[in-house]
Amino acid sequence: MINIIIEKGNHHTVQQIGYSREIKNNKMGKNLSIVTISLQLLLASTSAGQVFDVKSYGGQPNADITQALTKAWKAACAVAGCKVVISAGTYKLGAVSLLGPCKGAIEFQLQGTLQAPSNVGKDFWVSFKRIDSLIVSGGGAFDGKGQTAWQKNNCAKNYNCKTLPINIRFDFITNSIVRDIQSKDSKFFHINVFGCNNLQIQHVTITAPGDSPNTDGIHIGHSSKITITNAKIGTGDDCVSIGDGAQDVTVNQVTCGPGHGISVGSLGRYQNEEPVSGIRIIGGTLSNTKNGVRIKTWPSSPPGTASDMHFENIIMNNVANPILIDQGYCPNNQCSNKSPSKVKISNVSFKNIRGTSSTKEAMKLICSKSVPCQQVAVAGIDLVYKGAGGSATSTCVNVKPTVSGKQNPPACTSKQ
Ligand SMILES: *[C@@H]1O[C@H](CO)[C@@H](O)[C@H](O)[C@H]1NC(C)=O
Repeated sequence: MINIIIEKGNHHTVQQIGYSREIKNNKMGKNLSIVTISLQLLLASTSAGQVFDVKSYGGQPNADITQALTKAWKAACAVAGCKVVISAGTYKLGAVSLLGPCKGAIEFQLQGTLQAPSNVGKDFWVSFKRIDSLIVSGGGAFDGKGQTAWQKNNCAKNYNCKTLPINIRFDFITNSIVRDIQSKDSKFFHINVFGCNNLQIQHVTITAPGDSPNTDGIHIGHSSKITITNAKIGTGDDCVSIGDGAQDVTVNQVTCGPGHGISVGSLGRYQNEEPVSGIRIIGGTLSNTKNGVRIKTWPSSPPGTASDMHFENIIMNNVANPILIDQGYCPNNQCSNKSPSKVKISNVSFKNIRGTSSTKEAMKLICSKSVPCQQVAVAGIDLVYKGAGGSATSTCVNVKPTVSGKQNPPACTSKQ
């Protein structure tokens, strides 16, 4: 029993607490609880002494702390259960790779503001990679200083464009928490999640101007058991985008706007994409965004699947295309429209989605002719169009949704 507790404790503070509760709640008696508590005090005292402040490595406010942070991280990573701290103040930071595996749990606590250089020289700015039991916290900000870089983004014109650096990358991170941080003015995507398992992203704030190109808030691909809770995101692209290989993703109470909304996709652009399944977008408010909740796939795509996607209890404020399945997604005409998308969409629900639409077509379900959408349910929709020229409409193509509850606009006012 005791061995198990130590192991759990080393792995994760949260599990440690959860486990002690479990023990206390079971009927094994007081003695065991006392043993548990004293072990936890021991663990707490060992980890409390293990703070690696970048200041101790020569990292001072208003200076470049790339070297200091790299050294502090390496030292901390070699010891189990410790913390890298960047205290209040503004610091300059070049591209850094904070790599694991580490000896045990590790916390990255950012209280200050980090500023990226105008030329990062890599496709990321801060990268966390191959770490188990990571906590990123502290309330501080990653300021990507994107203003100078956005004009170099030519992705709207060049299909094979070279992408600008992502503010924060999480690659192969497991059993971890990212909470209370801010990401600002990234040159490209703000947060990218790849190859991760069991990662919780809580209470993050992401901001960039509404016209900044490809500044997606959080992009998730090739990852499972990911939850995003209480995020506040306003950018120039998707607030949250969920790409291929995403499984078991929950987005809970996200506030989005400005931006392009919350989307699954785009899918079907590349060969050998992995299936998307188990996506839940629950609660939250979208304001003045270019789309609401959408699933987008490219035409002339290789075969693929996207299934078990549920959108529920969402408020739309003056949103264009509040509910959208777009299987002919072709931004800037960068695709071949020769054949329909072969990404098969199934088991999708849009439930209790209300508010106002800034376009007449409040609900568009445009599915592929070659693989029509299956098991699509629409329940409790109330979307009001306030502009001139009549009331809201809805279009259904290659889909026959199951309809229940309130339907404003009536489902499938035009269909094919
Ligand atoms: C539809 O999706 C839900 C939620 O992911 C899942 O529980 C259910 O089994 C799926 N239904 C079918 C028929 O696949």
